[in-house]
Amino acid sequence: MMVPLLAIDQLSVGFNTDNGEVTVVESLSLTAKEGETICIVGESGSGKSVASQSILRLLGENGIIQQGEIRFKGDNLLNKSEKELRLIRGRDIAIIFQEPMTALNPVFTVGHQLREAITLHSKRKGREATEYAIDLLRQVGIPRPESVMRDYPHTLSGGMRQRAVIAMAIASKPQLLIADEPTTALDVTVQAQILQLLKGLQEGSGTTILLITHDLGVVAEMADTVVVMYAGQIVEQADAGSLFDRPLHPYTQGLIHAMPSLQTRTGVNDERLESIPGTVPALNRLPQGCRFHPRCAYSQDICKQSSPPLVTAGDNRLVRCWLASLPTSSEPYATSGGQAL
Ligand SMILES: Nc1ncnc2c1ncn2[C@@H]1O[C@H](COP(=O)(O)OP(=O)(O)O)[C@@H](O)[C@H]1O
Ligand SMILES: [Mg+2]
Repeated sequence: MMVPLLAIDQLSVGFNTDNGEVTVVESLSLTAKEGETICIVGESGSGKSVASQSILRLLGENGIIQQGEIRFKGDNLLNKSEKELRLIRGRDIAIIFQEPMTALNPVFTVGHQLREAITLHSKRKGREATEYAIDLLRQVGIPRPESVMRDYPHTLSGGMRQRAVIAMAIASKPQLLIADEPTTALDVTVQAQILQLLKGLQEGSGTTILLITHDLGVVAEMADTVVVMYAGQIVEQADAGSLFDRPLHPYTQGLIHAMPSLQTRTGVNDERLESIPGTVPALNRLPQGCRFHPRCAYSQDICKQSSPPLVTAGDNRLVRCWLASLPTSSEPYATSGGQAL
């Protein structure tokens, strides 16, 4: 059997807080194949960033991996020393954050930082490193790359900065690129360009992309596989086509209904955006039963009492919802009468 590039198995992550240890990601499992784009989607606070930061152990001092394994090409990264992990970071696995200044140092030029990323992870030195840096800037669509090499990050626009960060991230041709809301801070046009850029780079190099977003428009554009998270748990997982065709979880249905572009495309001409009522619960005050039930239009007694397991729902599909688990309802949402959320 082929070893998947990334296999996260039953990962739970918590934080030490003033109110004790709080679990923010619970029993998360997912597998990413070479060249695949997996999108993790969910509202703010659902645990997307924490899950992705766990891969490179970037959780900060109070973060605790409570259980699970994170296997990269078969090796459990959780057993690696900090020194071993430092070699993997940036070389085999790179991460791009929402805010490009997180990755850039304001006191050094773009060229300096890019050359540093290159020389750290490859044998290229001197002139060769500089030429490769210029080439990378060109690849990410930065005009006049020779002159941008001499620029300081703050003199660039947000879009150009994020391109520079992407150039740094791909300098070592990582096998896994984690992108945590990489376009959220950018305007729509630039966002589309950056997504195209990531796609193009992936086609050229077969990189696996783990893309985190709260925007289903981005998911529709990019994903092979979609993982929907709610309050620290996976609530649905499917290939992108199936998910948009027939979302199973009421939460996924709500997210899709709240998507302006899909509404226009499907001819629902409603000015008012339908969104999911209520908010994600505080993780130290989770409701009993299904974590989504207080916001769910289909909530039944069982949903208030016990938490639903993540179950198989057809080919490569998973869903965590009692309505999908109960034997009586093969088409639960079609027969439930109400409009989705
Ligand atoms: N360093 C931390 N200490 C305590 N709680 C944290 C810390 N970082 C994140 N959290 C909590 O973990 C939960 C998940 O956060 P996060 O993964 O950032 O959500 P998302 O990326 O989906 O918006 C949130 O409730 C957040 O408040
Ligand atoms: Mg986040």
